[in-house]
Amino acid sequence: MKVVAIVGSVRKESYNNKLAKFVQKRYAEKFDLEILDLSVLPLYNQDIEENAPQAVVDFKLKVKDADAVLWVTPEYNATIPGVLVNSIDWLSRVDKVMIGKPSWIMGASIGMLGTVKAQAHLRDILFAGGLQSPVLIGNEVYVGAVHTKMDEEDNITDEGTVAFLDNVVSNFKQWMKQFS
Ligand code: FNR
Repeated sequence: MKVVAIVGSVRKESYNNKLAKFVQKRYAEKFDLEILDLSVLPLYNQDIEENAPQAVVDFKLKVKDADAVLWVTPEYNATIPGVLVNSIDWLSRVDKVMIGKPSWIMGASIGMLGTVKAQAHLRDILFAGGLQSPVLIGNEVYVGAVHTKMDEEDNITDEGTVAFLDNVVSNFKQWMKQFS
């Protein structure tokens, strides 16, 4: 199974990117996860959507070819970051590559609530007209106080979080069977 991860933070030391990398490494035998780079995408502009820059074309192709999308997002100002909205705007137009494409959401924050609001908003957006992506509900991953749960090699050291991830990955695999 091929999954692409769309991470809502482009900073070098992003905890969400580290979470995506941990998932990529730990579950390599369960699915092939490619983490996409949102920093290469230009700002969405309707004037150029029909003849989009190569970075957009490549990004959409990777999403199109994947069996599912794993969204891994921080919370910015009680919602999802602009960089994530930008990627969604590109995905929602012209060849609407998200229609029918299964989505699963995770998020990490240094606060205790672990991206609850951002994920609720993202879920809503994924269901909406432009994307129409079926979202795996009840299998969300909220990693709060993430800075206390990773070691210097970016492994998640918190046993409860790892056990939880093992469980939700197995639920995700089960849920994906209906799409094959
Ligand atoms: C934040 N942060 C944050 N956290 C939160 O729980 N709720 C929020 O509304 C916000 N808002 C917010 C806005 C902006 C502009 C920044 C830069 C940060 C804190 C955020 O969760 C924290 O910086 C994470 O570490 C960001 O994720 P990455 O970059 O580590 O993946």
